[in-house]
Amino acid sequence: MAKKTTKSTKSWHGRLSGEADQATSELLASIDVDAGLYKYDIAGSLAHATMLREIGILTGRELTRIKKGLSTIAEDIEAGKVKLDPALEDIHMVIESALIKRIGEPGRKLHTGRSRNDQIALDLRLWARDAIDDMRDLIRQLQTSFVAGADKYGQIVMPAYTHLQRAQPILAGHAMLAYVEMLDRDAERLADCRKRVNVCPLGSGAVAGTSIPLERKRVAELLGFPAITRNSIDATSSRDFLAELCFCLATVGVHLSRWAEDWIIYSTTEFGFIELDDSVCTSSSMMPQKKNADTLELIRGKSAGAIGNLCGMLTLMKSLPSGYSRDLQDDKRFAFATVSTMKSALVVASKVVSTVRFCPGRIAADLDAGFLDATSLAEYLVNKGVPFRTAHGIVGELVANAARTGNTLASLPEVVIRAADKAIGPDVADHLGADNVVKHYKPEGAAGAKQLRKQLNFWKRKLG
Ligand code: ARG
Repeated sequence: MAKKTTKSTKSWHGRLSGEADQATSELLASIDVDAGLYKYDIAGSLAHATMLREIGILTGRELTRIKKGLSTIAEDIEAGKVKLDPALEDIHMVIESALIKRIGEPGRKLHTGRSRNDQIALDLRLWARDAIDDMRDLIRQLQTSFVAGADKYGQIVMPAYTHLQRAQPILAGHAMLAYVEMLDRDAERLADCRKRVNVCPLGSGAVAGTSIPLERKRVAELLGFPAITRNSIDATSSRDFLAELCFCLATVGVHLSRWAEDWIIYSTTEFGFIELDDSVCTSSSMMPQKKNADTLELIRGKSAGAIGNLCGMLTLMKSLPSGYSRDLQDDKRFAFATVSTMKSALVVASKVVSTVRFCPGRIAADLDAGFLDATSLAEYLVNKGVPFRTAHGIVGELVANAARTGNTLASLPEVVIRAADKAIGPDVADHLGADNVVKHYKPEGAAGAKQLRKQLNFWKRKLG
């Protein structure tokens, strides 16, 4: 049987006489999610009240009581002492009703010229601003861990893959700094998103503003916003800033998933390129020998949730009519979940990177397999005046020969190599074998030692 909620809880009891039953109240409520916004809600109310005092709506005494009331409410929410009653729907009503209960009449003036529509738009922007700052710090931490890893293990020569087939030799540091680049764009994207987040919507009211002469710029100033929104309809019903945040973080997730996949593969017995620290691995309840890269698998998996949340956010916004609709209440479920998931993924990613051990012996043992030096040999011929396409064909035949006879290019008898083209001289040996190949990389951004030095200097300077 549906229970009736008590009549006095709602602020609109003047208009509506029918009461929601429990199931309806639960559907309407967002307090389970938006309680986390209480600090922002109170900060917004303090700024609003200060401005209301300045324009003469509140007396000095009323403002003092509101400020005191709000600060004790903040402490009590923090301490779990305020009842988060779903019948009150959301954090805005929970705080307002607690305030009225505590300080009486002045509390009834706080909502002057304000709607929950511009209030939640404000809270979300304040929250998103902090979330972005936190995420950028965590990204920077992870970048720093990768740079330290590139410093420590950077000189190891290892294979690079395309199509997950052996391609060309690289320095391990170059591979690690590739992730640092991706993360840097992620941080830049977040910084750019922050510009659109950092605009104050308060004063937009429900949809059309208000006849109360609010000083919007003053509120913005008090809350550290450099600008105010220009249009009340847009300000109360647009959430593209949240969708953008979800996109930025889904992209972080995608980048982390690619790195996680690389390192899961590298940590297998078959590859053995790296050893993950025991503290970031798990074992099996049945197979005693197992050391599983579960943290990396979960980091890889978390990106699915972030991508799903982005889809959810965009779908929630699609086809909404102009002006606030209650659908928007669920925006928080997508945005909050994304931020909390990606936070934990970034924190643990940093632990994985800063504790990894590369295994140079294992990497070197198999480095001759897969003809990593084939492109280098073709380029050797180019330097002797052979057109690249011709050189490609010559080396292709040599590789086929070596594969057939169980050789590497370096172990083919010298007569066989020399017979392939008259341009090939004894100096060819210097261009065969992975260790030699990395010495010859020329342009900026390539996988050799001097390029690595330059990249490392760049990142150390940039990351401080
Ligand atoms: N809790 C709502 C949200 O998160 C804000 C309330 C707006 N409600 C309304 N009936 N206009 O979007």
